[in-house]
Amino acid sequence: MLRVKNLAKDFTIHIRGGAVIPGFAGVSFEARMGSLLAVTGPSGAGKSSLLKCIYRTYIPGAGEILYTARDGSRIDLASADDWEILSLRSAEIGYVSQFFRVLPRVSALETLIEPLTSRGVDREEALDKARGLLSGAGIGEALWDMYPATFSGGEKQRLNILRAIITKPRLLLLDEPTASLDRGYKNRIIDLILGLKAEGTAMIGVFHDQDALSALADFRYDLARCREPGEAGAGAETEAKI
Ligand SMILES: Nc1ncnc2c1ncn2[C@@H]1O[C@H](COP(=O)(O)OP(=O)(O)OP(=O)(O)O)[C@@H](O)[C@H]1O
Ligand SMILES: [Mg+2]
Repeated sequence: MLRVKNLAKDFTIHIRGGAVIPGFAGVSFEARMGSLLAVTGPSGAGKSSLLKCIYRTYIPGAGEILYTARDGSRIDLASADDWEILSLRSAEIGYVSQFFRVLPRVSALETLIEPLTSRGVDREEALDKARGLLSGAGIGEALWDMYPATFSGGEKQRLNILRAIITKPRLLLLDEPTASLDRGYKNRIIDLILGLKAEGTAMIGVFHDQDALSALADFRYDLARCREPGEAGAGAETEAKI
């Protein structure tokens, strides 16, 4: 569903006289339907930046991100225009950020149904679905009409994940989705992600948490390798079956 070829990203800091911070280089892998590719590597290796390039929050410096859309068309996410990216984000590509920014003065329930109602799903149907997901993720009814700004870190994180999965995306990018959850909630989220994977969603995920990694990952791509001197570009197809 997604083929990343020789992707690279550096950051040029203009207010520091054009200093260049290395992101990653020579990244190549595939993400397949119904499986999860875990991107591993030490802190600062560029894992979040890689996901942001695929979601196109960042523009890659070089390389291709070939995505096969639902209608069968092939789109290079590295070079597609912004409108095309926005339409793919609303229709088929989901992203769970490492740090959740809540919308101010929007209740948890409204935050959760928005991705559905904005696609034209009937409000009552969206509310039904949202209530089911919130209960399943252990977010009690007392919190549904509250503003997520006041939620605990783990509650915010669970809401963040539910918002990304409520539309059943075809491609889901997960950046540390279980980082601040205790074991019980972590397992519920793992089950939700496994359910979506079984329905065919292709996933690329970053997990510091070893339990989540071993429960969810089918393949693994180690980003640290791409930063070794002389290794740039040589890491093609390094994904290994876990
Ligand atoms: N917008 C940006 N501007 C400048 N540098 C950036 C930017 N985003 C990321 N970087 C740099 O790119 C490198 C990789 O960062 P990134 O957040 O992708 O790492 P990571 O592998 O996700 O780390 P962690 O495991 O700690 O989340 C870091 O050195 C970081 O400072
Ligand atoms: Mg990160």
